Amino acid sequence: MLRFLHTSDIHLLRLDGVTPWRYLNKRLTGRLNLALHRGKKQDQSLFDRMVEQVEALALDRFVVTGDLTNLALESEFELCVEKFETIPVPLTVIPGNHDTYTRGSERTQRFEHYMAPYMQGEREGGDYPFVQRFDDVALVGVSSAVATPPFDATGQCGAAQLGRLRRMLTALGEEGLARVVLVHHPPVDGLSKPNHALTDRAAFGEVIAAAGAELILHGHEHVNSEASLPGPDGPVPVHGIASGTSRLQKPGRAAAFSVYDVSSSGFTRELYEWNGTRYASPNA
Ligand SMILES: [Fe+2]
Repeated sequence: MLRFLHTSDIHLLRLDGVTPWRYLNKRLTGRLNLALHRGKKQDQSLFDRMVEQVEALALDRFVVTGDLTNLALESEFELCVEKFETIPVPLTVIPGNHDTYTRGSERTQRFEHYMAPYMQGEREGGDYPFVQRFDDVALVGVSSAVATPPFDATGQCGAAQLGRLRRMLTALGEEGLARVVLVHHPPVDGLSKPNHALTDRAAFGEVIAAAGAELILHGHEHVNSEASLPGPDGPVPVHGIASGTSRLQKPGRAAAFSVYDVSSSGFTRELYEWNGTRYASPNA
């Protein structure tokens, strides 16, 4: 049994000490985009409000499915670590496209450098997937984060990683564990525009159809969503969550997190949304 909070796309921003030359690449467009839009759309204090809920929710763990940062800058990752250290339960994180925003950040594995403590687990020859076991539950961290050209927010898992994912899910399933797969981009059709999509989602779907999983969690589209992928024993639920720092007050797009209770006999999900004053469960 594992009780955890799922949030995503917190986009924590800190530009302290960043010199102008660093914007002479894709960050130029990203920085402009941020200046024009991000500040209006995100409120970092909503992440702090979420963290304040952790103890009352009696969580075992806190899960963030990518886009921790905006520009994959050292200063942003340092801010993430500072905030994460205030969370009173252990964390699991995976990267999003903003966490490998430039080829330099991807090549130097900046995300992995800072986030390694939150991604410890079993591996099969590559950084991803990684598997964290908690009694009868396994969190399976996949990376869909790749550096892309400007105005391209696509993701890709790659054939090698998907091969490992298939073998790992098969083995965990044979052990009878509840398998919760974490991936930043929605691995289903219909949620993302072409320049925002997981390009190898068909191959991802083939892995799930063959090996199975009990639950798939993602972020990226900043909206609460529920879909499914065919599995060997029936549909596998695929849940997306809105940005954890969204200022929007539109239904499904306000800052939100989910709390899951997962065991080998099933799971429950409770959604909490920011109502302008506090995070509240619409079902409460
Ligand atoms: Fe994203």
